[in-house]
Amino acid sequence: MSTIKLSSDALKFENNQLFLLNQTQLPNTEEWILCDTPTKLYDSILQLKVRGAPLIAIAASLFIGKYALQIKNRKTIKSTIDYLISSRPTAVNLQLLLQQHLALLSKETEFKNHLDLAIQHFNEDIELCQKISRYGVEIIKDNDIILTHCNTGSLATAGNGTALGIIKSAFKTKSGISVYVDETRPLLQGARLTAWELSKNKIPYQLICDNMAAFLMKQNKVNVIVVGADRICLNGDFANKIGTYSLAVLAQYHNVPFYVAAPYTTIDFSCKTGESIPIEHREPNEVRGFKNQNNHIYWSPESSKVYNPAFDVTPSELVTGYILDKGHFSGKQLKSLACINQNTLRLSPNVTSIQL
Ligand code: MRU
Repeated sequence: MSTIKLSSDALKFENNQLFLLNQTQLPNTEEWILCDTPTKLYDSILQLKVRGAPLIAIAASLFIGKYALQIKNRKTIKSTIDYLISSRPTAVNLQLLLQQHLALLSKETEFKNHLDLAIQHFNEDIELCQKISRYGVEIIKDNDIILTHCNTGSLATAGNGTALGIIKSAFKTKSGISVYVDETRPLLQGARLTAWELSKNKIPYQLICDNMAAFLMKQNKVNVIVVGADRICLNGDFANKIGTYSLAVLAQYHNVPFYVAAPYTTIDFSCKTGESIPIEHREPNEVRGFKNQNNHIYWSPESSKVYNPAFDVTPSELVTGYILDKGHFSGKQLKSLACINQNTLRLSPNVTSIQL
């Protein structure tokens, strides 16, 4: 039996088994679920039991790592990878990490290499988060009031988080930091998850409904906005949780700096502009009401027609800067760096290279 043990706030890997913190039950219940079949993992990703662009990818990579050793059949491993990639289309991290497993498959290397690769993905993400926090903290000043959207912390990554990781570091190194948290309709990742993480870290915050952000900015109550990303294109356009684009528009109107924080695993080197990002559309009941363990509570007529895109795309011209694991970039720099030298935006050693 393998002695490998990995543990983060939302994912555990031990005795060759993958356990996920069921994020749909937070903040009320901390329930860990065993993901021992491809279907269980697929459903957990689809239902947002595990979520956040980096963490989805790492969970899938670890699953493939242990599944490869168990199944030892390249055809089945490949079809499982394709199946998992199809679970959520917008966050590119899932594709990027699983494509590295596909590259191993095509080289016909030993099956154990998949688990080594997955462990590397897990450990690397912790490091990437640390670097993002280190660079990101430079944009925060004493007494800043920061607004953030969705959840980008240790529930969304293997490490401390991206945008929320920066906020946590700023709280430790600056004085007087406080946070406004968008509740993030419809699935309330801000209200349920970011508020939970901030409470655990004893960071002062106030929860707001998404539609309150404009009024706060109007009153000069927000100094800086930091959000995460699910896919960044070469021109700097990026997809993130629905509501991010409206925040960016508001930020420009009110002259509030607007930053995006992400690891290189969120950059899609094949995507030139935001127009080619596939946007996930989710089921209508998420907007019509709320689902608890047993039933669905509707606050709209059950027959209401619903429009429910899970993500939106923010154009690069609304972004003040990108905080990546390699440092600070403007949209223009991002594009030219990616074109000049793919290694400038870091690649994992010993794994497939990204074709520009
Ligand atoms: O639908 P979710 O909860 O997976 O959406 C998450 C986000 O939009 C995050 O901002 C993004 O994945 C970055 S997480 C570091």
